[in-house]
Amino acid sequence: MLDGNSRSITSNQHGIHDDLERTVKKHLSTEFKKPFAPFSLTTFKELKVRVELYLQVNPSHQIILDSCCGVGESTFHLAKQNPNCLVIGIDKSEHRIDKHIHHQQAELLNIEMIRGDLNDLWRLIADANWPIAHHYILYPNPWPKSKHLGRRWHGAPVFSSIPKLSKQLTVRSNWDIYIKEFQQALSITGVESKVTEYSAEQAMTPFERKYWASGQKSTQLTASF
Ligand SMILES: C[S@@+](CC[C@H](N)C(=O)[O-])C[C@H]1O[C@@H](n2cnc3c(N)ncnc32)[C@H](O)[C@@H]1O
Repeated sequence: MLDGNSRSITSNQHGIHDDLERTVKKHLSTEFKKPFAPFSLTTFKELKVRVELYLQVNPSHQIILDSCCGVGESTFHLAKQNPNCLVIGIDKSEHRIDKHIHHQQAELLNIEMIRGDLNDLWRLIADANWPIAHHYILYPNPWPKSKHLGRRWHGAPVFSSIPKLSKQLTVRSNWDIYIKEFQQALSITGVESKVTEYSAEQAMTPFERKYWASGQKSTQLTASF
């Protein structure tokens, strides 16, 4: 599945969604009150213990969030590059989290892999006020059909939690419209960001590697506010 034959995104949407501004403003003006799943509350409770202990032992360290981390390849790289941070990879897919072999092999002490739903965990983590130095969202599911705007992170009710998590944000996608929409949605919250084409010598995630091997380009948003 992850070789160089990934088809590029096709969509019936050819620019920023006409409903983006209305959708984002609607979500920003109403509190997202969906009850937390019991599983999310348990996961968060366990994570909180781990984070508090880590910060107690390493009071000058910070946290890096790697949301939608898949098998955690990016989580592993970030943990190696940032020994002064606890890097938390979160993905809802048990199958992907279980495949997190790099971490098991490397036995890094500053990495935590969590299976969980970000619709709940982002809200709980934002309220916890942890020192999150950087938040990465690498290749979120693009949901390119126009009718699926509400499934993209910037079209979802939980979007308002994202600027509360960290003041450094990196989002990458192989669908430039996703990133341009994310930029506009952030701007509605008062956060300005930069959008550029992204390339590097080595891919940081399996999806990135797959897209590049099939000739697709990545677009990256960075915000520092
Ligand atoms: C296209 S994959 C990218 C994975 C990885 N970042 C990479 O680049 O290889 C998108 C990931 O987002 C995860 N995801 C989608 N919705 C989620 C949610 N509500 N909570 C947590 N993870 C979610 C999926 O399980 C999937 O692993």
